[in-house]
Amino acid sequence: MSKKTSKISGFYKLPVKKRIEIVTNFSDLSEEETKLFSSCLDIQTADRMIENVLGTFELPLGIAVNFIINDKEYLIPMVTEESSVVAAASNAAKIADVKGGFKTECSEPLMIGQLQLLKVDDVADATQKILKHKKQLLDLANAQDKVLVNFGGGAKDLEVRILDSPIGKMIVIHIIVDVRDAMGANAVNTMCEALAPMLEELTGGKIRLKILSNLADKRIVKAKAVFDKRTMGGEKVVDAFLESYILAVIDPYRAATHNKGIMNGIDSLIIATGNDFRAIEAGAHAYAARNGQYTSLTSYKKDKNGNLVGEIELPVAIGIVGGAGNINPKAKLCKKILGIKTAKELSEIVAALGLAQNFAAVFALSTVGIQKGHMSLHAKNIAVMAGASGKQIDIVAEKLVKEGKIKLDRAKEILEEIK
Ligand code: MEV
Repeated sequence: MSKKTSKISGFYKLPVKKRIEIVTNFSDLSEEETKLFSSCLDIQTADRMIENVLGTFELPLGIAVNFIINDKEYLIPMVTEESSVVAAASNAAKIADVKGGFKTECSEPLMIGQLQLLKVDDVADATQKILKHKKQLLDLANAQDKVLVNFGGGAKDLEVRILDSPIGKMIVIHIIVDVRDAMGANAVNTMCEALAPMLEELTGGKIRLKILSNLADKRIVKAKAVFDKRTMGGEKVVDAFLESYILAVIDPYRAATHNKGIMNGIDSLIIATGNDFRAIEAGAHAYAARNGQYTSLTSYKKDKNGNLVGEIELPVAIGIVGGAGNINPKAKLCKKILGIKTAKELSEIVAALGLAQNFAAVFALSTVGIQKGHMSLHAKNIAVMAGASGKQIDIVAEKLVKEGKIKLDRAKEILEEIK
């Protein structure tokens, strides 16, 4: 049997069948699991997942190679419609490998549930009463989810915030819940709803909102990598990279695009594992604005040898139990490919992938630009649109790229010429 490694050069050149064979071997997939690559979500399952179902909607599932995170090799499944994303992540990981790959850190999986308390006569007195009954409130929250508590999770703390608003002062109670390997929305929302009557009784106020916060700033993941200056093309390239990056630090217009590039990678893995990508997006962007100005989620500097050191820090609220990830067979398959054991491990891969994706984008932007990378797949799509099939697709696409003009009418002309 061939050696199991995520460092696979020329993976993109292999036929799909051979790629599946490599992933099957790497992740010990069964024959049944391997068949899933070419299957669709069955209609009965889809019909139970959302309302008014008519069918299912497919997206490409690719594999990013070369990832070494905390000294462990990973093949990363990515679901995206955007060309170049998977290749860019794989290339970035290859450059990071030169200096040992990605290193990560992760906080405990703490989510925040919010309860909004209105119509309180004496805000200070109500706050006192809530804090005095903290233990009873936490016990009541934990009575809602014995399984989570048995796994070492559950409501751990309670905080009270007083906010001014156009409708007067309000109290916002945060319950801090360790959700272990779950994303946590269900557990937290159930606890919030259970606490509402007790809080109203204690304070004489009225609870309005009771819901989890997607600004999961107690569930933070960091990833770091050193990108070798020689592999990047020398110190001048590192300097050009840093000049490009700095705009994302100071300018929200650039930061939005810069962070979008990060989410190209992150969302594709979140979708592949059946997690809620809107929750991750909301958390990431809110966190990027935590100091009052929207800014970059990554930071870069040079080390004393002139290599580029990249870091990312963001909230990652994802789970490996419960939710759609346990219903959709392909999401289960993707988790098996990753070989993850905990939600923490998955969140660390998410952060490393986000950093890789961002490095790749800024590296391309500060050197050759991103169009070059986009060209070849785009050209293939145009060739197909022009009517090319089989071997014709590559011939037409190559000619379009060579001419530097990827246009449908030109593709049609080339197709006529080679027919
Ligand atoms: C495109 O999907 C993402 C980029 O715009 C990200 C960036 O500009 O950093 C290339």
